[in-house]
Amino acid sequence: KTTSSAQANRLFSSSCRSSNNDPREDQRLLATSKIPILQNIIIQGQQQLNSDANNQLQRAPITSSNIPPHIAARVLQEKKLHLQKHHPLNIIKSKIETYFTERYDSSLQIHDNFMPIVSTADNFDSLLIKEDHVSRSKSDTYYVDDETVLRTHTSAHQLALLKDTASVGFDDNAEGGNSCCSHAFLCTGDVYRRDEIDRSHYPIFHQMEGVRMFKSGDDKKSVHEVEMDLKDALEGMTKVLFGDVEMRWVDAYFPFTNPSAELEIYFEGEWLEVLGCGVIEKEIVKAAGRGDQPGWAFGLGLERLAMVLFSIPDIRLFWSTDPRFHEQFTSEEIVKFQPYSKYPPCLKDISFWTTPDFHPNDLNESIKEIAGDLVERVELIDEFIHPKTQRVSNCFRITYRSMDRSLTNEEIDALQEKVRLCATEKLSLELR
Ligand code: DAH
Repeated sequence: KTTSSAQANRLFSSSCRSSNNDPREDQRLLATSKIPILQNIIIQGQQQLNSDANNQLQRAPITSSNIPPHIAARVLQEKKLHLQKHHPLNIIKSKIETYFTERYDSSLQIHDNFMPIVSTADNFDSLLIKEDHVSRSKSDTYYVDDETVLRTHTSAHQLALLKDTASVGFDDNAEGGNSCCSHAFLCTGDVYRRDEIDRSHYPIFHQMEGVRMFKSGDDKKSVHEVEMDLKDALEGMTKVLFGDVEMRWVDAYFPFTNPSAELEIYFEGEWLEVLGCGVIEKEIVKAAGRGDQPGWAFGLGLERLAMVLFSIPDIRLFWSTDPRFHEQFTSEEIVKFQPYSKYPPCLKDISFWTTPDFHPNDLNESIKEIAGDLVERVELIDEFIHPKTQRVSNCFRITYRSMDRSLTNEEIDALQEKVRLCATEKLSLELR
């Protein structure tokens, strides 16, 4: 680890690199310059709540941002769960980093502290994600402004890191451990997506991106050789985490890799997806100023793996501050989580006529804003079209349950009342 950051520092202070064409510095400057927008979102949210004598949740969108105050606040809080010692996400991250450090020695760089505010160019364009891809829509992605998003994946840093290191790792005459023919990096961070609410989905989660590049020239590796190396490396990593499990490779599609694949393991009776990966598209490598160097990349979700490995039943637990959660993880090892108690759920339904531009993620987010981590799940349980008016009716079931305590009826009723108000006032839905 120390080697990688020392190496990075050396890169930055190198005299041939001025700070204004350093792609990582550009990313950092952009992120910092957008912080006031998030601060404003939080302030406006507070003002609206205060000025609200009737407790109505009306909110005029003042910026082009679709980030709600509770998410803006989380970005600025910078909890960095993946960096908290002995946090399950950190334990998995460390195990993977140790594995790759042993494998690639000083040609590996580790990055885990980039801000999550990135340009749409980095999050989408640089990865060849098409203009009309759903992941770009405002119903799926948090936009800070029209050209800036909360990163939806750590792949957003791939191009900048490839550019940044375009000149390292391939020097046959270099002294010491860096004379090898590869260059690799890992990049971990929090990512943000507007999505469903249930035990395995949370608007903020953590991903790790990994890349390995090879030399171009006479002894350039074929695509097949790169693919073999990729599979060997990732099977080895999976063994470190899961032990001797059965694995299978499944064809997949990602715009930024070709060929692409997913690795699945047979674990506790079912096939489980571990990661996505592939041989990096030539166009990206070229754009990074690396000519025709071949390379591979992978991406994985840390919560997903941690939930399986530690038997953590609900994704909200990763954010818990309850010592009964944290005191179970006091070593660097993977241990089975012992649920400290299970409090009763409380179910409430809400039915309404939808509008043409209604998206379930808008409702999910409003509920999350009102109930925070007390909401466990939101599911569509009934939908029908009125035969005469053709209007569409939806009924959503909201499961409220705290991870740490029992909830009172009054408390839930008050939350549900706010959700109903918000549905009419903010989302313009007609309740039934
Ligand atoms: N960025 C992808 C996601 O968020 C994960 C991924 C897949 C990353 C394949 C990669 C890759 O680097 O090669 O779903």
